[in-house]
Amino acid sequence: MKRSTVKMLLASRELDHEVLLKGWVRTRRGNNQVAFIAVNDGTVIHSIQVVADLDAFPEALMKRVTTGSSISVTGKLVASQGKGQRVEILARELIVLGDADPEEYPLQKKGHSFEFLREIAHLRFRTNTFGAVFRIRHSLAFAIHKYFNDRGFFYLHTPIITASDAEGAGAMFKVTTLDLNEPPRNDSGAIDFTQDFFGRPTNLTVSGQLEGELGALALSSIYTFGPTFRAENSNTPRHVAEFWMIEPEMAFYDIHDNMDLAEDFLKYLIKYTLEHCQDDLEFLNKMVDKGLMERLRFVLEHPFERMNYTAAIHILKQSGAKFEFPVAWGSDLQAEHERYLVEKHFKRPVILTDYPAEIKAFYMKQNDDGKTVRAMDVLFPMIGEIIGGSQREEELGKMQQRMKEMNIPEDELWWYLETRKFGTVEHSGFGLGFERLIMFITGMSNIRDVIPFPRTPKSAEF
Ligand code: 4AD
Ligand code: MG
Repeated sequence: MKRSTVKMLLASRELDHEVLLKGWVRTRRGNNQVAFIAVNDGTVIHSIQVVADLDAFPEALMKRVTTGSSISVTGKLVASQGKGQRVEILARELIVLGDADPEEYPLQKKGHSFEFLREIAHLRFRTNTFGAVFRIRHSLAFAIHKYFNDRGFFYLHTPIITASDAEGAGAMFKVTTLDLNEPPRNDSGAIDFTQDFFGRPTNLTVSGQLEGELGALALSSIYTFGPTFRAENSNTPRHVAEFWMIEPEMAFYDIHDNMDLAEDFLKYLIKYTLEHCQDDLEFLNKMVDKGLMERLRFVLEHPFERMNYTAAIHILKQSGAKFEFPVAWGSDLQAEHERYLVEKHFKRPVILTDYPAEIKAFYMKQNDDGKTVRAMDVLFPMIGEIIGGSQREEELGKMQQRMKEMNIPEDELWWYLETRKFGTVEHSGFGLGFERLIMFITGMSNIRDVIPFPRTPKSAEF
C-alpha cells in the first residue's frame, strides 16, 4: 500500500478505508486496554491519532512505542469517537521502525525553552514550533520566487566567492587554500596570494548587489536570493554571520519606484503567508506571540510612513525618550531609535530616506545638497531595519569622486564602473534580510530560531 501523509489523512473526505501511515510518535496516552498514539510526520502542524487495542499487539512491541520513536501503522481511517480530532486510525498492524530510548531522547516533556532547543538543534525540527517556522520559511522562499517571476524579474545567481570587498557592508570571511601554518611569502614578507587558488585574495560575499547591477543594466529587472556572510562580532538577536538575502535590482527605477516595490513586496509576502500557512500561523499566534496575527493584518492594512532621515532625527530629539545611544544628525540609527519611530511614534512600518552620505555605501545616488544620499531603509515593528536599499549613483564622475574620498581603489571595481561608462541609466534596488522577514512573520524573537543552522560567533556546531 502507498503511504499517506498526515496532511493527506487529516484532509481526507473519504473514510472507512485502509491506510498506511509512517511517522514519529509525539505522545502516547491511554489505559491497559487501549493506547492513543499521536503521530506526526512534519507535513502539517497537527498529529494524527492512532488507536491501538492492546490485546491485539504483543506487550514487548507496544513498550517500544515511545515519544520520538518512528512507527509504521496500517489500519482503517475512521471518524473519531473522541474530542479534539475529526479522524483517527484504528491500528491493524503496527511496526516500530526506529526506537527512541526514553532515558536518552531529549524531547520528552513539553515546553522546552528555545535556548535549550538551540543546544539540540539537530532534533528541534521535531517540535511543533520549529516545524511551523521551517514550513513557513519554505513557503516564503517559494512566494518570493513567485512574486518576481509573475512580474518579469529574472533570478540571477551572483557569486558566493568574490574578489571585491568594496561594498563596505561588514567584515568578510577569507577564502583560501593556502597552508595557514606556512603561507608562501613574497620578497617583502607579505603573504603571496598569487600562489593562492584564485591567484588573489578572495572572500565570501556580503551582498550580491554589485553583480546584480550588471544584470539589471541588461535584463531590466533581476533579483538575487542567496546566502551572504558577515564576520562582524555582533551577538544580537537580529544578527547571524551567514544569512540569506533577497536583492532585487531594477533599471529605470528611481527611489520612489524602489519604495513602492519594497512595500508591495513585503505586503504580498505577509498576505501569502496568511493565506497559505494558516495552521502554522495560528499555532505560533497561540504559543509564541499572541499579538502576531493582529500585527500582520495591521501591517497589511496601513500604508508605510515615508520620511527622510533628517525629519526622523528631529522626531527622536523631540521625543524626550531615554535612549542608550545618543541621537545626533550624522550618526547611524540604532535599533532602539528605529523601533521608537515604528512602535511608539508612527505605530506602523516606516521607510526612511536620504541618509547622510558618511554613513552609507559609495554607490548610493548623491543628493544635490552635497550631504545626503538617496538611501532607503524599511523599518519594521519588533525588528528595526528589515530592508536596506537605495537609488544608485549612475554618473561615472560622481561615483569616482566618492570612491576617492572613501579610499576605494578603482582598479578593483573597474568592471562595475564600466556600467556607468557605457549606456548608464537610472536604477535602484534593495536587500531584504530573509531571516528578519521570517522573524517578523513568525513572531520568533531570536534570529537563531528562524534559520535551520545558525552561524554566530563561536558557534557552528550543527
Ligand atoms: O543594509 P544591508 O547591509 O544592505 C546591503 O547589503 C545592500 N547591498 C542591499 C541592496 O541594496 N541590494 O543589508 C540588507 C538587509 C538588512 O536590512 C537586514 O535585513 C539584513 O540584510 N541583514 C542581516 N540579517 C541578518 N544578519 C545580519 N548580520 C545582517 N546584516 C544585514
Ligand atoms: Mg543596512
